[in-house]
Amino acid sequence: MERHDLSILFVEDDELMRNTISKVLEKNAQEVYQASNGSEGLAMFLEKQPDMIITDIMMPEMNGLEMIQEIRRHSRSVKIVVVSAYSEKENFLKSIALGVNNFLIKPISYKDLLNILEELANIICLEKSVEAERHLKMLAQENLKQAHAELESRVKERTRELAVANTQLIEFQETLQDKIERSVAEIRMKDHIMMLQSRQAVMGEMIGHIAHQWRQPLNTIGLLTQSLLFSYRKETLTEELLAERVDKIMSVLEHMSVTVDDFRDFFNPNREKLTFSLESVVKKTLSFVESSFQKHKIVLTFEKEEDCQIYGYENEYSQVLMNLLINAKDALVENRTEDRQICIRVSRRMGKSYLEVEDNAGGIAESIRSQMFEPYFTTKSEQNGTGLGLYICKTIVERNMSGYIDVSNNGTGAVFTIVI
Ligand SMILES: Nc1ncnc2c1ncn2[C@@H]1O[C@H](COP(=O)(O)OP(=O)(O)OP(=O)(O)O)[C@@H](O)[C@H]1O
Ligand SMILES: [Mg+2]
Repeated sequence: MERHDLSILFVEDDELMRNTISKVLEKNAQEVYQASNGSEGLAMFLEKQPDMIITDIMMPEMNGLEMIQEIRRHSRSVKIVVVSAYSEKENFLKSIALGVNNFLIKPISYKDLLNILEELANIICLEKSVEAERHLKMLAQENLKQAHAELESRVKERTRELAVANTQLIEFQETLQDKIERSVAEIRMKDHIMMLQSRQAVMGEMIGHIAHQWRQPLNTIGLLTQSLLFSYRKETLTEELLAERVDKIMSVLEHMSVTVDDFRDFFNPNREKLTFSLESVVKKTLSFVESSFQKHKIVLTFEKEEDCQIYGYENEYSQVLMNLLINAKDALVENRTEDRQICIRVSRRMGKSYLEVEDNAGGIAESIRSQMFEPYFTTKSEQNGTGLGLYICKTIVERNMSGYIDVSNNGTGAVFTIVI
């Protein structure tokens, strides 16, 4: 018979018997503990926790039944076999009440002992494996529960983090939106102020133009008015003559008011995009500057391959051209160029309109080329230039009309090109 994987406590006060039986047990079990009475047996049980107890009943100090009673208070599962003489029948009955698993009658037959051992060993083995399985299952359940709890807490944590991140994102978006709106408003405001500042140079030119345009008609009105007084004194003033002079004066005044209307229109930004003719814009702009350019002995020529229609802001385009013409005039005057020429060329290439303003004032110095379109960059004195002209030209052409403006040197001077 093979040795069972179990531990046995054998409690017997008869030393000879204890030793003999223990030897048999040792051959069949892994571990055998011995005790010579009930209290020793109880102490041994508590210390060693054996799988099985085989105990005599009649023993000194504490008898077997008292010991079993104590042991059952600690363990319901430990297997207990009681050894008793056949004559002590009431002991068996008491043992049953204490949950004893089996009995051996004195004198112990080895065969009975081994049979009981075998039977209980199987039960213990089975119980152990069931217990182990139950334990494993419990462990697994425990692990599962823990994992679940962990997962739940992680999900909660993550949800909390996400909520915080989301709030921060919303706040960030709101402040960003706010900042962008403020920056855009600031840029618009700055552009607007710059536009107003840059108009002053153009306005100076326009006022010169009006003064020039008005000199002749004012002179005419003056002469006509004086002639009225003269005729009256000579008594030649008839009603017809008066009506004729008044008509003349009115027509001159009308002509003068057209000049003022042109001026007003120029400074009244038309914010509606319209289709306009490039040729007519050039001619109108040239009419504004002609007189002052003549004064500086500048010859203005206009070459046109083909007229172009542009969709955009007419007055703003005219303002760009005016800025380029004033810059060319300033360069010609400053460089004391002898034979002063400005040529304006209009052409159409690949569906785009090209306008070139070419002068012979010597061109752009390489050192300032990359800066000249920047706001407030000027080589002129404070009274003569704000440095906003070309910046505004670029803004109008590139931002407002989706075109581009560039400059190059042609050997004798600068060539500005506007492409829309
Ligand atoms: N045709 C040109 N030939 C030579 N230099 C030029 C010409 N046009 C512009 N520049 C240079 O570019 C600079 C910037 O021109 P921009 O029109 O922006 O400002 P400004 O003419 O100096 O001042 P503002 O136009 O505001 O009165 C000028 O100061 C000048 O040095
Ligand atoms: Mg300028």
